[in-house]
Amino acid sequence: MSGRIPQSFIDELIARADVVEVIGERIALKKAGREYKAVCPFHDEKTPSFTVSPQKGFYHCFGCGAHGTSIGFLMNYENLSFIDAVEALAEMLGLEVPSDGPEHNTSRENTLYDILAEADQIYRAALRDSPAAIEYLKQRGIDGTTANRFTMGYAPDSWDTLLKALGGDDAQVKNLLEAGLIIKNEQGRQYDRFRDRIMFPIRDPRGRIIGFGGRALGDGEPKYLNSPETPVFHKGQALYGLHEARHIGSKEGYPNIALVVEGYLDVASLSQYGIVPALATLGTATTTDHIRRLTRIADCIIFCFDGDRAGRAAAWKALETALPHAGDQIEIKFLILPEGEDPDSLVRARGANAFRELMDRAEPLSDFLLGELENRADLSSADGRSRLATLTQPLLAQLPIGVHRELLINQLAERIGLKAERLETLIKVPETPSPRATRRPRAGDTGDASGAVSERRSILIRKAITLILHHPAAGIGLLEGVPGLIGVRQPGALLLRQLLEAINKNPKITMAGLLERFRDDPEGRHLGRLASDTPLDGGEVVPQVLRDNLKRIVNGYRKGRMGALLTRGQEDLDPQEQKELEGLLRKFPDNPGEP
Ligand code: UTP
Ligand code: MN
Repeated sequence: MSGRIPQSFIDELIARADVVEVIGERIALKKAGREYKAVCPFHDEKTPSFTVSPQKGFYHCFGCGAHGTSIGFLMNYENLSFIDAVEALAEMLGLEVPSDGPEHNTSRENTLYDILAEADQIYRAALRDSPAAIEYLKQRGIDGTTANRFTMGYAPDSWDTLLKALGGDDAQVKNLLEAGLIIKNEQGRQYDRFRDRIMFPIRDPRGRIIGFGGRALGDGEPKYLNSPETPVFHKGQALYGLHEARHIGSKEGYPNIALVVEGYLDVASLSQYGIVPALATLGTATTTDHIRRLTRIADCIIFCFDGDRAGRAAAWKALETALPHAGDQIEIKFLILPEGEDPDSLVRARGANAFRELMDRAEPLSDFLLGELENRADLSSADGRSRLATLTQPLLAQLPIGVHRELLINQLAERIGLKAERLETLIKVPETPSPRATRRPRAGDTGDASGAVSERRSILIRKAITLILHHPAAGIGLLEGVPGLIGVRQPGALLLRQLLEAINKNPKITMAGLLERFRDDPEGRHLGRLASDTPLDGGEVVPQVLRDNLKRIVNGYRKGRMGALLTRGQEDLDPQEQKELEGLLRKFPDNPGEP
């Protein structure tokens, strides 16, 4: 994903950003020795176990294990994507994010954000001046705090509110058009898109307004009018309420559950009743982009739909979109409400606790899937049962291979009255790994040593990586300084070399810089955890310890290799391997094969 932003820029960003400033602007930090402490914003605690290290550019919570760089903090605390977090950080530092991907016109987009924000100010002022609009919100049960949290406004009943206020010259009119705020008809007449409507600004995760939804005060048609697609507003990505819900309720386990509903007022009412985060798709079906966004902020997504025909159809559509993402890392559930009710009406009629109970009883994806399928196939007949298997097959094919899919197959088999293995062959789920199926580390590609020995060596590698992360400068020159390191083939060795290379290229790089460099690297996934370890602190001895450690890794590898070659026997080796063995025997004449 970071492909679009040059790595050199991320390096610079991390080098310039002060993690204490980035975090300190958002939560209260207290100095404690060389580090800073705070009550952790990511879990509920009374004594501070959240620490920030300015030297390392890194935060870590000893309570819940949360950790990361400035960029990581912004992602987690503000619910931002990687790109958005980079942009937000760059903005704090007054830097422009370069892009090596497809052209994207930042200054044009900034103009649109500005004009949308100005329109928002006008709508909010108009709400204060409109007794009818205030009365409407009151009658819908929206209190002042909620109206403010969502910065609701009112578009007056006039054709030219925005045109008059903002359409000063041709350029401005063009901006209003492009932002979707005014419309030009075939006769060339221009007029405000939103008239006599309650206005709901739609924000991106960073809080910038990207569009609006407007609800008619009375029975006006259409009931809701939304901004059209614009360079900054993409319905298939936007989630109403995402920004407003950020770090509210983190004490209740947020961001664990995200509740996806259908309407603006559902989001607002649920928030008023303390049920957050509730998010809405904007009159569109759930898209893969939505789900990707949601998986970043939640461990569990509950899709909440009306029990009528349209609601069930929408739920099914959401299920199909969600399937490839379902699995061991994200739980997906469905909450189908009684017909004719929506979350807004329900939470008002029955209260927050009753609504939470409904959420607790939401159906897991597998139950919902099987239930819906059973409605379409009569399980009492053999025909119906085979029809069920046929219906399920393309759906199962989309599920990532793993525990989750196996469970689903077992459940399905049980309902059809078949053995799971029999069903598996019957539906012949193709064994194509899904994009989400995680790449397993290629263990034991050394092929030369017993498990215990190679394990001892991985501990050495792990230690070396930890030392390098915490004391990058100690790694300068070691790639050439420790002969043989290049040749080591075993899990972790490649990452070790890549870290040393990055340090040689950029001797000033910090731990945070290294972490960001390996953010998307499958081998680098564990770096964050190693970064949270506290290895020895006495900086002076680290270079020596590290050098010794690397030498032991090389020697261990070589001896293991020698043992393996000897075991295979001279006659089995190709000429190159024979030469290698001779060299190794000269090096270690005394204890062949013993690391
Ligand atoms: P609903 O018709 O369920 O309305 O539309 P609602 O959210 O319950 O609104 P109230 O309570 O009657 O005020 C759900 C969502 O579908 C989109 C909107 O995003 C709305 O919030 N929608 C609906 C439109 O885009 N246009 C419409 O005309 C109606
Ligand atoms: Mn409603």
